[in-house]
Amino acid sequence: MIYVRNNAAKQWILEELDHRFMDGAVRILDLGCGDAGEWAAFLPTHPETRVVGIDTDARVIARGRASFHAEPRIDLRVFDAQERLTETFDVVVAMSAIEHVVDRPAFLRTTWSALRSGGTAYLNYDVGHFRSRDVKERIMVPVSQMLAMVGIEGPYMKRVHDAAFRKQAETVGFRVLTTKKHNLAAMKKIMKGAEEPAILEWFAFERKLNDLFPPERLDPVMLSTTLVVQKP
Ligand SMILES: C[S@@+](CC[C@H](N)C(=O)[O-])C[C@H]1O[C@@H](n2cnc3c(N)ncnc32)[C@H](O)[C@@H]1O
Repeated sequence: MIYVRNNAAKQWILEELDHRFMDGAVRILDLGCGDAGEWAAFLPTHPETRVVGIDTDARVIARGRASFHAEPRIDLRVFDAQERLTETFDVVVAMSAIEHVVDRPAFLRTTWSALRSGGTAYLNYDVGHFRSRDVKERIMVPVSQMLAMVGIEGPYMKRVHDAAFRKQAETVGFRVLTTKKHNLAAMKKIMKGAEEPAILEWFAFERKLNDLFPPERLDPVMLSTTLVVQKP
């Protein structure tokens, strides 16, 4: 199983799910799922898995529904992750998403209420927008935050700080299991368009770095963070 868009953080999350739930039935909630493209790599080899994906952007949900029209095990909905859901799940994931959520405590409360007791959440966010040298992106960060103040949340992006977000998760009641860092910036550039064996080596290299160094040490060169928490 390989995540085709060459993202080591998402590959790591999918591999974790693969190891934990290879044989059993599992219900996964994907918050801020976009077009849910990552599940195209996962669902075919995990016949017992069901996914509910939610996103506030109706266009990406429509795109996802079109690409999964023949797959009944994924249910994509237009919904706000800052609002409570009534169902419960074994796992919650949010990929490249937290930095786009305006009310993070509300998002964490949704995650909490959607998880069964003992369930795990993989909460992933990126810093690419905030370390970028691109002028347009630099301008869009504060502009998107101003737009959110008048209720336009679509383009929102605000940097997530590891310690602050971890504390918010603990305040909601979560137990922090681990933090991982992925997407070595230089590698992403070099590996664009690379063949599958080379991509797998890259993913393995980033996994190895996480074994060797703590997240704080990797942070200056890694763009993507995954906070893994459990509902006790
Ligand atoms: C960068 S995209 C990531 C999409 C997908 N998870 C992926 O990894 O390709 C972030 C997504 O979060 C969604 N989003 C932002 N705030 C949200 C909210 N409050 N509720 C649900 N989705 C939200 C955006 O609409 C966007 O599709």
